[in-house]
Order: sequence, then structure tokens, then C-alpha cells
Amino acid sequence: MNTQPQVLVLGATGKVGGKVAQLLAESKQVKAIAGVRSPQKAKTLQEQGIEIRHLDLDKQDTLVPALEGIDRALLLTGYTVDMLKQSKAFLDAAKQTGVQHIVHIGASGAPTNEVAHWGWHQYIEKYIESLEFSYTHLRPEAFMKNLIDFGWLNQGVVTNYIGDTRWSWIDSDDLALVAAETLQKPDIHGGKIYPLGYDTATMSEVAKILSEIIGKPYRIETRSPADFLENMLKFGAEPAYIHCVYTQFKLNIANQIPNTDATFDNFEAITGRKPTSWRGFVEKYRQELTY
Ligand SMILES: NC(=O)c1ccc[n+]([C@@H]2O[C@H](COP(=O)([O-])OP(=O)(O)OC[C@H]3O[C@@H](n4cnc5c(N)ncnc54)[C@H](OP(=O)(O)O)[C@@H]3O)[C@@H](O)[C@H]2O)c1
Repeated sequence: MNTQPQVLVLGATGKVGGKVAQLLAESKQVKAIAGVRSPQKAKTLQEQGIEIRHLDLDKQDTLVPALEGIDRALLLTGYTVDMLKQSKAFLDAAKQTGVQHIVHIGASGAPTNEVAHWGWHQYIEKYIESLEFSYTHLRPEAFMKNLIDFGWLNQGVVTNYIGDTRWSWIDSDDLALVAAETLQKPDIHGGKIYPLGYDTATMSEVAKILSEIIGKPYRIETRSPADFLENMLKFGAEPAYIHCVYTQFKLNIANQIPNTDATFDNFEAITGRKPTSWRGFVEKYRQELTY
């Protein structure tokens, strides 16, 4: 009989959840179970020995069966305003089936109430608390991988929508490491809110680091937040969420969001490792970043 804590990982066919599931499976401290809506995307997870359960956050009847016997869960949603109703449905089902600990992937906790999707994540945090789960709230800053995943880098050109703003950044693999640790040790990390951002850079500085490490010229091309919005809508982004990001960029350029370059010294204490710098990230993803 398996007496290990059972951990359900959402988003396991995506970037952060996929890495968390892999780390948990490797650690062997808990049993990792992936809750996925597209089983055909889950073959690699299966090959890693991870149990797959069908779960679609938009289909309420899939939630309780997927949560059967689960002790802890990683709550992660996609880039959509539906995150609010999806998270509520998931948390209600998790309460019903007796889940103890929730680790939630949120977003920046920067002190502004004008960037709505940051607030949406904080509503979800409050809902987790109101249901009296043990919890760990993770608040990552911008992912370095956005450069690769969102098409912000093309043939040596870094598209810059944020003017001279200096952002705080995190390698999403580091976020996954923190999530995996907190899922394995809820006794240590319960009741904690962790802001996660470990290196700062403007887009010009990112281009400079790319040039230095890859040894080819990289430059920025500055575009307006309105261009960003238009492009993202054209490629099918969910309108409400992407409007929030558009607002964030506009406020960034107007220098109206405080502490955009805040970094935090909690990574080593949580994981026992050093966080990834921009230079380290470029070394690690050299192949994807080169042209
Ligand atoms: N990018 C940033 O700079 C940044 C910064 C701070 C916080 N975040 C947060 O990071 C999270 C995104 O993480 P990520 O980059 O790992 O995302 P991702 O790679 O886009 O993966 C999203 C995952 O969610 C799954 N999913 C979406 N809708 C679902 C549904 N209805 N039911 C079940 N699963 C569903 C997807 O499944 P499919 O494979 O089937 O689509 C996929 O596995 C978001 O909550 C975002 O707010 C991002």
C-alpha cells in the first residue's frame, strides 16, 4: 500500500507544472499525480512514472474524481480571467475531498491595485485561506522564459514593450523548484507567502547579456503596449487577461508601478541552491536563444 502523501499537480502539460511533476517524481518523497485535460500531451509524464488523471478546470464533474485521495495540490491556471471561476471550483472540490495543503502559483504582489490580474491572484489566495487550507502562496515576478515562449526574441531582436523599466525576473525552473519544495514540506512552508524574483534587468540589458554570452549582436526593438495588445489578440489571447498585461506595460512606461525591480533573498533558504541569474539563464538556454 502506498503511504506516501499524494500530490496532484495542475498544469503538468505546461512549463511550470511539468517541471514540478518531474521534480516530485524524482524526489520520491511524495507520489506525484498529474491532473491534465489533454491526456495525449501527457506521454512524457507517464514515461517518468507519473500517474495521470483526467481533470479539466472548466468541467466541474472531472474535479472530485481527480482529487480522490489527494493530500496536497499545486493550483496553477492559464492566462485567462476564467482562472477565478476555475480556481474556486477546484478549491471547493478539494475541500470536499479532504485536501490538506494548497500551493498556489500567483503573480507579483507589487503594491498597485491597477493591474487587475495580480489582484485576481490575490483574491484566490484569500479564498484558499477562507476555506482554511494549509497554504503556501507563491508570487513570481516575470519569467525569463517569456522571451522564448511569447516570441519576444526573433533573429537577434528583442521586442521591448516596457520602455526603460527595470523588471524583477525569475527562471520558471526556479519557481518549479520552490513549488516542489513547498509541496514536499508543508510543515515548514505552511502559512507562508513567498515573493519570487531574483535578478533585475531592462530589456536593453537583456539584449546586452545575450550579445556578450552568445557572441552575436542582439538589439532591442521598442514597440508600444498597443502593438502588444493587438498582436496578442490576433494570436488568440484571452482578452480580459491580456488587457491587464497591456495596462501593466502602460503603467510601467509611465513609471507608475513601484518596486518593479524588487528582488528577494528567500531562494537559498527554501531550496538550498542559488537562484538563476540572467547570465546563467542565457548559458542554460543558449540553444533556444541563439540565431
Ligand atoms: N509568464 C510570466 O511572466 C508569469 C509571471 C508570474 C506568474 N505567472 C503565472 O504562471 C502561470 C502559467 O504558468 P505556465 O507558464 O507554466 O503556463 P503554461 O505553460 O501556459 O501552462 C498552462 C497549463 O495549464 C493547463 N490548463 C489550462 N487550462 C486548463 C483547464 N481548463 N483545465 C486543466 N488544465 C488547464 C494547460 O493545459 P494544456 O496543456 O492542456 O493547455 C497547461 O498545462 C499563470 O498562472 C500565470 O499567471 C506567469
